[in-house]
Amino acid sequence: MGVQRIRVGELVDLPLRRGKLVCAGGEEIAVWRVDGNVYAISAVCAHQHVATLHEGLRNGTAIACPLHGWTYALENGRALVGSGILRTYPVIVERGIVYVQVDEGV
Ligand code: FES
Repeated sequence: MGVQRIRVGELVDLPLRRGKLVCAGGEEIAVWRVDGNVYAISAVCAHQHVATLHEGLRNGTAIACPLHGWTYALENGRALVGSGILRTYPVIVERGIVYVQVDEGV
């Protein structure tokens, strides 16, 4: 299976206090800029399967769902509060443009 790069936008335009929702091939992905890094994680909370994590509350690299507080690590998608593991996606920054890499056909 191939991979596809989805253009998120310019790095400097990514907000610092909230995530950005990106939809690619049926996936809803929350992209977060934290200090010098950019992370991409499924936006769909494992609790009630709704896309909320781009609107979550960030503490370091932990994102808490705004609905009931399940919290995930941006680095690997693992739940820190609640349970489950969310999918994470490779992020590429090239010449100031942020891309998320997803499986083709996803
Ligand atoms: S829907 Fe995310 S914690 Fe309940």
